Amino acid sequence: MTGDVAVDRVAAPDVERTAATAREIFQRSLGGEPAGLWAAPGRVNLIGEHVDYAGGTSLPLALPHRTVVAARPREDGRVRVISAWAPEEPWEGALADVRPAGQDGAVAGWPAYPVGVLWALAQREGRLGEVTGLDLAVASDVPVGAGLSSSAALTCSTALAVAELAGVPSSAPGAGADEDALRVELVAACVRAENEGAGSPTGGMDQQASLRARAGHLLLLDAADGTVEHVPLALEEHGLVLLVVDTRANHALVDGQYAARRAACDRAAALLGTPHLARAARGSSVLDVLDRLRAAGAEAEVLRRARHVLTEEERTRALVALLRAGRPGDVGPLLDASHASLREDHEVSSPELDVVTDAARAAGALGARMTGGGFGGSALALVREGDVDAVAEAVTRAAVHAGHPRPQLVAVVAAAGASRVG
Ligand code: GLA
Repeated sequence: MTGDVAVDRVAAPDVERTAATAREIFQRSLGGEPAGLWAAPGRVNLIGEHVDYAGGTSLPLALPHRTVVAARPREDGRVRVISAWAPEEPWEGALADVRPAGQDGAVAGWPAYPVGVLWALAQREGRLGEVTGLDLAVASDVPVGAGLSSSAALTCSTALAVAELAGVPSSAPGAGADEDALRVELVAACVRAENEGAGSPTGGMDQQASLRARAGHLLLLDAADGTVEHVPLALEEHGLVLLVVDTRANHALVDGQYAARRAACDRAAALLGTPHLARAARGSSVLDVLDRLRAAGAEAEVLRRARHVLTEEERTRALVALLRAGRPGDVGPLLDASHASLREDHEVSSPELDVVTDAARAAGALGARMTGGGFGGSALALVREGDVDAVAEAVTRAAVHAGHPRPQLVAVVAAAGASRVG
C-alpha cells in the first residue's frame, strides 16, 4: 500500500465551511436567520487518562476540529434542534417538559446533548438561566465516536451560544478572570447536561478542554480543584508531530464499562478516606498507598485500578516537567508507559488500539498511547517529522492486516477553545 496512506494535516481550524453548513441548515429547516454562530472544539488528551474522575491531573489540547451551532433564542419556551449528520432526526419540544435521562420526558439520541445544556442552564439562577427557548442547527467536523469528544464540542458550543444570547459576553478563553469564571460555570452545566441529560458519564476533562484551552498550549487541568494552567506545546520547532489515529472502532461511554472504572476508583478513595484518589500518593509513594489499600481490604481489581490512577498521576507530572524543561522529544517513554497501564491495570484499551500503538512504536514513533475513554476510539503517536509517512503507513498496514477498520490519520496542532464565529 506504499504511498496511498494520507495523513490529514490540520494546521488551523477551518470553521468557515462548517459554519456555512450550520447556517444553511438553519435557514432551510428552521427558517429565517440565526442570531449568531458559535464553535467549540473536540479534544485529544496527551496524558493523564482516566484520572479526572479520581481528582487527578490531565493534559488535553483542543483540536482544530470544531462543532458549530447556529442559534436563535425563542420567547415561547420551545426548543427545536437539527443537525447536519442526522437531518431526518430533528427534535422539538417544550423545555419545561424535558426530564433527565431515564425518566419519562427524557430526550433520546444526539438531541439529548444540546437540549440537556438548556435544561441544565435553566436550573440556574441569574442571566444564564434566562434563555428557555431556542432554535439550533448544528454542523461539525469533529469525528463522531472517535473518542475525540464530539459530545463536549456539541454541549460546549451550545452553552456558549446560550450564554451570549442571554447577554453574557464570551470573549476568548483565558481573556481574564470574569471570562474564566463564566467558562467554569459553563463547564459545570455541560457536564451536568451529559451526565444527567444524556445519561453519559463524563469526568469533566473534555468540557474543560473545549471551553478553556488556548491555541498553542496544553491545558494542565487539576480535577481536584478545577484549576488550570496553560503549558506551551512547542512541537514544530523541535521537529515533532502529534499524530492522532482514529481506529474507527466505535467508542461509546454509555455501556457501563466507564462507570465501572469510576466505581472502582470511588471505592479505593473511600477505603483510603480521601476525596481524591489521584492525590493519595503525594507525600508518600504509590507502593505505600497500595499497601494501605491492601490492608483496608481492597479487592485485586480495585488495587489495579488504583495503581493505574496513582502511577498515571506521576507520569503526568514527569511529562509536564520535561515540557517545561524544553524536552518534548523525551516524553515518549511516558506515553508508552501510560498505554501499558491503561491496558494492563485499567483495562480500557482494545485490540485496535494495541495494534496501532505497537505498530507506531515499531516504525519509529517516540511514544504512542490510546487517548480518551478507550474501548476503541483514538490513539496518539509522537513522531519525528521525517518519520510521519513511515509511521502512518505502518499503522495502516498493521490495522488492515489484523482485520480492523482502516484508521484515519490526522496530524494536529493545539487550537483554541470555544468562541463566537459569526
Ligand atoms: C472520557 C471522559 C473524560 C475522561 C476520559 C478518560 O473522555 O469523558 O471525562 O474521563 O474519558 O480520561
